[in-house]
Amino acid sequence: MALVQKFASGLAARSGELLNQSHTGDAPIRMSMNTPRKLHIKSYGCQMNVYDAQRMVDTLARENFVETDNAADADLVILNTCHIREKASEKVYSELGRLREAKDDAVRGGRDMKIVVAGCVAQAEGAEIVRRAPVVDVVVGPQSYHHLPALLERANRDGRAIETEFPLQDKFHSLAPPQPAAIRARGVTSFVTVQEGCDKFCTFCVVPYTRGAEVSRPVTKIADDVRRLADNGVREITLIGQNVNAFHGEGPDGKPWPLGMLLHHLAEIRGIARLRYTTSHPCDVDDSLIAAHRDLPALMPYLHLPVQSGSDRILGAMNRKHSVAEYHRIIEKFRAARSDMAFSSDFIVGFPSETEEDFAATLALVDQIGYASAYSFKYSPRPGTPAAEMQGMVDAATMDQRLAQLQQLIDSQQSAFNAACVGKTLDVLFEQAGRRAGQIVGRSAYLQPVHVMAGAELIGQVRPVAVNSLERYSFFGELPAEHAPAIASHRDHASLTATTGA
Ligand code: 5AD
Ligand code: SF4
Repeated sequence: MALVQKFASGLAARSGELLNQSHTGDAPIRMSMNTPRKLHIKSYGCQMNVYDAQRMVDTLARENFVETDNAADADLVILNTCHIREKASEKVYSELGRLREAKDDAVRGGRDMKIVVAGCVAQAEGAEIVRRAPVVDVVVGPQSYHHLPALLERANRDGRAIETEFPLQDKFHSLAPPQPAAIRARGVTSFVTVQEGCDKFCTFCVVPYTRGAEVSRPVTKIADDVRRLADNGVREITLIGQNVNAFHGEGPDGKPWPLGMLLHHLAEIRGIARLRYTTSHPCDVDDSLIAAHRDLPALMPYLHLPVQSGSDRILGAMNRKHSVAEYHRIIEKFRAARSDMAFSSDFIVGFPSETEEDFAATLALVDQIGYASAYSFKYSPRPGTPAAEMQGMVDAATMDQRLAQLQQLIDSQQSAFNAACVGKTLDVLFEQAGRRAGQIVGRSAYLQPVHVMAGAELIGQVRPVAVNSLERYSFFGELPAEHAPAIASHRDHASLTATTGA
């Protein structure tokens, strides 16, 4: 706890800071408000960052910014960063090195280019970023994205602006909703944030410090967002939160609703064919969530439920608050509710003091559960977290060897899971045109890509596909005759997604 406070007060000391120096030494170059300005945004890390990037684009669209794929061409570049592991953080600084050259070129050409660092590195490192990379104009933490236009204005005026506070004002209330055209351009699947922050304080994890305490959005606001997306062609919603199943947003009855109740409510919205949620903590799985999997055909039978380790001793040191046996019992409950449930997980190898025996217990757990896929990482000490101070760092060679062994086991499970799907008929939500002419691609309930030869009018529809073959991680299949489109049409995607049904 002491460490938590130390870290938190460090953040508070840096928060809201405003530096008055100009980074170029020249007078700031003003950008015209009338001509459209180009915005390039690059996101690292989790789905929350992808979602936040879209909210920033929507908010800046009001200020006449349009997105560009080309950073060199942009008037404003935003790096939406991730701090979860050291490698992720360091990528930001190498990218900033490249951007310095692009900015110098722009200035030489008589153009200004503003550079913003957003996301969790911004939150955790604050003013340190501009000390390491003076090219940065604005540093903005994840809770302050609604202040971006004002921060850009401040940077124009004062040379630089930094904001890493956790303001009390509801950021969601102030962020611009996406316009219908933007929703349609983004396709038939969408993320919706329902919860942010985490109170779990796993000892290895920076999230409680960078994203703050758990906050849930009210049910009516979430339902409004989902309705707006569905009305503009979105068919699949993934509810996201750092600890999504800790959701306890206020329901229309004024009482806190658990995630299972929210899912029941959203499944009623016309046009929504599929629901997913991520990322969940085993301790926050309750009966309402199990019931949702039992009762809602729209809720996909695929769950990311990180366990991190198969050793009770390591789980204790990680402050995970659950045992291996409890994790097994939770998985069994899901399987009992829906027999076609499949699971994925996150694992950390080489957590401080992890022995060969602890690691063997992780392999044993993977063996017993049988995952459809999983992510595994080498432990990376994060400044300010309790584990970073622990004794017994595992040496790099041992970490490499354990990671390779675990990934080999996970890969073999994934291959077996995928191979078992060949010859079966899977429901597929078609998302976009495939790489080959006349081909479209969608995803199964288990997020496997499935390709068929069919017309674009099926984009936005869920259809059964007879799966014939598997190439690496992608399936190829055929629509059964009665579902094959009679005539391939060339109507535009927007009109199609609005009128299709599952
Ligand atoms: N080192 C390695 N992996 C980590 N993760 C989170 N923090 C660390 C860390 N310090 C992994 C966990 C988590 C996933 C998002 O990233 O497995 O579930
Ligand atoms: Fe980090 Fe997840 Fe643990 Fe929260 S529950 S501290 S987000 S690993």
